[in-house]
Amino acid sequence: MKHLRHLIPTTPVVVALLWIAGCAALAQETAKPRNKQPASGPDILESAPTNTSEPRPTAEGKPLPNRDEVMRKQRQYLEQRYDLSGRTHPTIRMSGGRKPIPVGPTARLPQGVTWESLGQMSPEEIRQKKIFPYTPLWHPLQEVGGMVFPPVQTKVVDGLERVDVGFDLPDAYLPEFPPALFVTNRPDLGDVSKGQLITLQNFETLFQDVLTPFQMEGMRLLLQKTTAQRHNLTLDRSTAKPVEGVSCLDCHVNGHTTGQFHLTPDVRPQSERFRLDTTSLRGVFAQTRFGSKRTLRSLEQFVQTEENSAYFDGDISLAERKGARHFTDREQMAMGHMQNIIDFPPAPKLDIQGKLDRTKATESEVRGEAVFNKHCASCHPAPFYTDNLAHDLRVERFYNHVGSTPMGAKGRAEGPIKTFTLRGIKDSPPYLHDGRLLTLEDTVEFFNLVLQSRMSQQEKADLVEFLRVL
Ligand code: HEC
Ligand code: HEC
Repeated sequence: MKHLRHLIPTTPVVVALLWIAGCAALAQETAKPRNKQPASGPDILESAPTNTSEPRPTAEGKPLPNRDEVMRKQRQYLEQRYDLSGRTHPTIRMSGGRKPIPVGPTARLPQGVTWESLGQMSPEEIRQKKIFPYTPLWHPLQEVGGMVFPPVQTKVVDGLERVDVGFDLPDAYLPEFPPALFVTNRPDLGDVSKGQLITLQNFETLFQDVLTPFQMEGMRLLLQKTTAQRHNLTLDRSTAKPVEGVSCLDCHVNGHTTGQFHLTPDVRPQSERFRLDTTSLRGVFAQTRFGSKRTLRSLEQFVQTEENSAYFDGDISLAERKGARHFTDREQMAMGHMQNIIDFPPAPKLDIQGKLDRTKATESEVRGEAVFNKHCASCHPAPFYTDNLAHDLRVERFYNHVGSTPMGAKGRAEGPIKTFTLRGIKDSPPYLHDGRLLTLEDTVEFFNLVLQSRMSQQEKADLVEFLRVL
């Protein structure tokens, strides 16, 4: 716990005590085994969800976690880790042109530690001193998990808000809502969503002259709600009222993302499951593997996987009761066709090889590209800025979790993760599979440590300039 105190600029003791109390309460809450059945009669057993630590919004079963309390604790956890003041860039905006990009680094450093001094330390030293600023980010309700949608969306889309947990990161660190949509078959049109949130009500009008009938069918299916573990019509849900469910584009809004997250379905135990930030579908046509871990090789296959895993947290035993939909081959193909034409946003400063066009670039961007080529291009090569592989960054070299996690996780080696593309990267904060890096400056500080690059302040600043033009 010692290091945590240094992270807090004011009233350190009080906040540290609250934090300890919070950890203890959560630990107690989660000490129960995941599949323990409630000690009651057989009808409850019959209708009990497989995971009885899940909330039941109705009178039967376990009481719901107190949402305000959950969110208060999460806010405290985030405030300890980050400066959430929401600083943004004065002129650079995301591709839809409405939202400024956030500026960092946001991660807080312990007193007496600077980014320069940290950059000179070995992973071992950082681990021993417990000062790594980029440990995994936890789901605000790690014990339960499930899909969580940001307020900017729940305000305008019914049925996505949960009663047990809310969204935790401030809006400044999320993509523009709604994001722009660019398609490969009509680059001349620019943003084909015309600044609107694409819905079942407006998609036909919007895309009459843009999509083929088969792509149109794919778009319709991507917009159609289907029931999910916590968004459904049964009593075992986390929404106040029964709801139809969640659509693919509720998360991949307009083919991009607005930072919706859930927990990875395929890693157990619960304490070690990763928070997963929704990836953009921009440029999936240029990628050969899908999912940070699953490395599925076709979009059609991913459609089916997403239905099982994102929707039912990998627990398909209850899917039938909750009304899961299983896409036919033809439906999967239509959805695949549609996803395959979602383009990256335009990058006017890149040439046809995806490299910086020297006639358009600033001096800082040119220097930034050189820094990038030295440290980053081996895994993120132009033109798409991904090698289409997965790499193990072995981030666990830098930390040791004991005492700092909501469920007492002992530190999780994350293993290989997909090299996400960096095209259009300024449009998709927060970064990394779990969104623990809130700004591009944070990604540069993170990789400076992970790669032990020992970059100068000037090199880091230039690298950020370069990432903004991709
Ligand atoms: C709860 C929000 C959510 C919903 C709903 C959702 N996704 Fe996803 N999607 C994600 C997340 C999170 C990832 C990243 C998964 C990972 O890293 O393994 C992802 C990844 C993907 C990818 C791989 C992208 C890449 O870069 O590797 C595809 C393709 C995809 N989703 C398609 C779909 C389709 C099709 C549907 C509807 C059947 C859907 N998604 C519904 C959150 C969602
Ligand atoms: C050894 C291969 C490797 C090198 C070298 C590398 N990266 Fe990455 N990069 C990855 C992997 C793998 C991920 C996904 C990691 C994760 O999500 O946990 C990633 C993710 C990222 C992301 C977040 C993408 C997103 O959509 O959230 C950014 C930004 C990034 N890298 C920038 C850089 C920069 C800048 C450098 C050079 C300083 C660099 N990378 C060097 C492999 C690499």
